Amino acid sequence: MSRVRTVWMLGVVSAVAVTMASGAFVGSGVEPSKGDDNDQGKVGQSRVQRGYNLAPVPLNLRGKNRDLVGLGSYIVNAQGGCNDCHTCPPYTPDHDPYTGGDGKPNAANYQAGGTPFGPGIVSRNITPDDSGKPAGLTRAEFIDLMRHGHDPDNAGQLLQVMPWPVYGKMIERDLAAVYEYLSAIPHAETSPECAPPPPAAAH
Ligand code: HEC
Repeated sequence: MSRVRTVWMLGVVSAVAVTMASGAFVGSGVEPSKGDDNDQGKVGQSRVQRGYNLAPVPLNLRGKNRDLVGLGSYIVNAQGGCNDCHTCPPYTPDHDPYTGGDGKPNAANYQAGGTPFGPGIVSRNITPDDSGKPAGLTRAEFIDLMRHGHDPDNAGQLLQVMPWPVYGKMIERDLAAVYEYLSAIPHAETSPECAPPPPAAAH
């Protein structure tokens, strides 16, 4: 490569660096940005299909966006690991991947919470309530919770253990997909062998 061209390329690189430093590309990663960060972005069909293959429970697709449900399943079941904390036990003995099983999640208590994480901290039931809302949250409340960790049951407190600081960096469309998927799974109850949720603190 000629010296002139190398210098030119360095110029391009530093121009990009300056643009990024000026904030065009760099954000906190927490607030939604424009561009691909909306519901119009094309959903990759391979993820959608894999998501449907991975869902361990029957899905209620009525009134749902099918692409978002599939993508949400992919994020929850192949990336997010929600099952490890929100399903108790996460696997029945015959499917337990840590003893050689196939890793299919425990469908009976899927995402119904009950995993204890120390004093006062138990994963919550994030399956749909009577009105079909996962954890009783609207989509806007859910996305806000995933971004900021505000505890909906204990005003002014932040959710502990729950990796919202990581999940909250997803683009808006992906968080909406997680919500759509959790809206499509069946309601389930916490297994009696797991911890009951702690009483909500007095406000
Ligand atoms: C490392 C364990 C862990 C993982 C992984 C995890 N969570 Fe949680 N989650 C928790 C715990 C623990 C709480 C309750 C925190 C507390 O009591 O402060 C919680 C709370 C929640 C709540 C609040 C529910 C309510 O109404 O109070 C939602 C929603 C939630 N998690 C969704 C998810 C989703 C979706 C995923 C996967 C993308 C996920 N969580 C993955 C541990 C986890």
